Amino acid sequence: MSPAAEHSLFEEDATLAARIDDLRQQIREHDYRYYVLNAPVISDAAYDALFRELLQLERQAPHLITPDSPTQRVGGDFQTTFDPAPHRVPMLSLDNVFSEDELREWDARIKRMLGLPLDETIEYMAELKIDGLSLSLTYEQGRLVRAATRGTGTVGEDITPNARTIRAIPLVLRKASDDVPLPTFVEVRGEAFLSHAEFARINASNEVSGVPTFANPRNAAAGSLRQKDPRITAERRLEVFFYAVGACEGYVFGSQQELLSTYSQWGLPVNPNTRLCRGIGEVSEYIAEWAERRHHLHYDTDGVVVKVNSFAMQEALGYVSRSPRWATAFKYPPEQARTKVERIVVQVGMTGALTPVAELTPVRVGGVVISRATLHNEDEIRRKDVRVGDTVVVQRAGEVIPEIVEVVASERTGDETEFVMPKECPACGSSVERRPGEAVLRCPNRNCPEKLRQRLRHFVSRGAMDIESLGGKRLDQLVEAGLVQDPADIYRLTKEELLRLERMGDKLAENILSAIEASRHRPLAHFIYALGIRHVGEHTAEVLASHFGSMERLMEATEEELAAVAEIGPTIAESIVTFLSDDGNRELIRRLLESGVSPTPPERPLAEGPLAGKTVVFTGTLERMSRPEAEALVKRHGGRASGSVSKQTDFVVAGPGAGSKLAKAQTLGVPILSEEEFFALIEGRSLPS
Ligand code: IVH
Repeated sequence: MSPAAEHSLFEEDATLAARIDDLRQQIREHDYRYYVLNAPVISDAAYDALFRELLQLERQAPHLITPDSPTQRVGGDFQTTFDPAPHRVPMLSLDNVFSEDELREWDARIKRMLGLPLDETIEYMAELKIDGLSLSLTYEQGRLVRAATRGTGTVGEDITPNARTIRAIPLVLRKASDDVPLPTFVEVRGEAFLSHAEFARINASNEVSGVPTFANPRNAAAGSLRQKDPRITAERRLEVFFYAVGACEGYVFGSQQELLSTYSQWGLPVNPNTRLCRGIGEVSEYIAEWAERRHHLHYDTDGVVVKVNSFAMQEALGYVSRSPRWATAFKYPPEQARTKVERIVVQVGMTGALTPVAELTPVRVGGVVISRATLHNEDEIRRKDVRVGDTVVVQRAGEVIPEIVEVVASERTGDETEFVMPKECPACGSSVERRPGEAVLRCPNRNCPEKLRQRLRHFVSRGAMDIESLGGKRLDQLVEAGLVQDPADIYRLTKEELLRLERMGDKLAENILSAIEASRHRPLAHFIYALGIRHVGEHTAEVLASHFGSMERLMEATEEELAAVAEIGPTIAESIVTFLSDDGNRELIRRLLESGVSPTPPERPLAEGPLAGKTVVFTGTLERMSRPEAEALVKRHGGRASGSVSKQTDFVVAGPGAGSKLAKAQTLGVPILSEEEFFALIEGRSLPS
């Protein structure tokens, strides 16, 4: 290449680098507006466009990819190790108080210890106690370098790849202004949690997969963070609020109030429902107010954390064993109530599974009225011995699904009746079946209207085709109007048809159509999941998509081929083949693809190019990239990075300080490249000699 051509290549590179940088900045700012300020300024579509442009430019110039790029959240290349992660400053727990009296005693004790008169007013920060999983994130020079669970309090577990997938966690702290400098080192602490809606969605997906469902959002959050494969964590929309600090260098906080406001300026989400209280009386008011209000939040809380606001006072108060003296947790009483089982009805799910549900005399439990509770299955009814007419204790498990804790046997009159599962589907009247080895009864009718309704709901749900504007009632309306009989019909809807529905305006119809339009190109894994194949939950769908790469190839796969795929067992393989060999299902898939549904295939490593199929070993210090980045780069180019040199090694990339591996490569005659030569190779440049 001529020097002039080379020069222009570098210039082009600089322009590209500038645009990439600009896009990253924009995306970070929008993330901040969305996750921290709760006030997005652009539409999802406009955001996606920025993101796609960045992805595309980074594909053109993979050497410009940095680990803090917004595109690098899902590190499919890395597994979570759960390695021990010592906390520089231990993560403590909190003492509890259970009543207003205990709270006042705590306030008096603090004053005594600080040598203050009892009538002095102390400033407290009152915060909701989020019922999730605590996390500690370490930022060095503003960059996220590590995420750890609480663990023992002194040593946590490293879950960095998982935490990076949480969109509300900034990979880089935001530099708000010169007045708010960034710390050189900081451990920020907070709580990761799942919304009620997301919890329900995950459980629905687990149900399809045939894996146990989670009892409450906290368990689901813990299960989602403790995943070896970060891609699974990425599918679960975890949220997070930050509220405490561990070790910190280069920034000094004066108070909890200042900590919270500084965090949000750094781009860390903080709970908006905190309140600075003058005196314990105001804290009590806050507690009373939130006793009811907390039930209307989209996540679980199990109390109020009260913290002495001033950090100087906090320091003076110090710690006892594992908890600070300067903070306490007020716990709301458990929420249970007694009521009567009026009826037991049976619901039909997407796969035809029959679930018994108790209809209760409406009763208030923790601020909301409960009138139904799930009974899971017939065995559960027998185990708890629930009968129609029984007085039962109900409780809101994790605030979401109410459940029956126990029957109050002393209230029995003898008029109660035992419930037996129906022999016919309550929706279509078909005889129900129980497959060998299964606990659930199923409706076998492929045209059962209730199955269809549930199947459609699943099809449009998040994680599947994600057509939000077709949620709930709207879909039922379409079915009732005879406009939609199966998922493929959704893609043939016209504006005129929509306008015939009740409460449908021009604008709404257009929104629905554009949401449908946008769903045509969902990732292949989402499409596979949307089909509602039994045992194929989101994760299995992901595995299938990345193995087969297209719907056509998946449809040709034999049971043996499927069972040979890692993580696909014989039951799943059989279920997939049964589903995909069914004429009705094949016809549905054909109609979907014909009506312009075109799932996006997963990104595949390059099958051609200088690194395709090659084994590369890195040794010595790399200057332009870290070792994991280098390895990821090789993988993206279709190669394999290995740790040791052998005859099978195609190249060794050696930086300064290379030792025995370099020597071995020389002995074996393996080609040796400098880092610069390695980049030249992937970029297809020749090197200035
Ligand atoms: S402060 C030294 N604030 O509750 C004080 N904790 O029972 C550290 N939690 O491990 C905790 N919301 O997981 C604090 N606003 C909040 C909280 C909160 C939830 C959790 C946290 C902690 C546990 C203590």
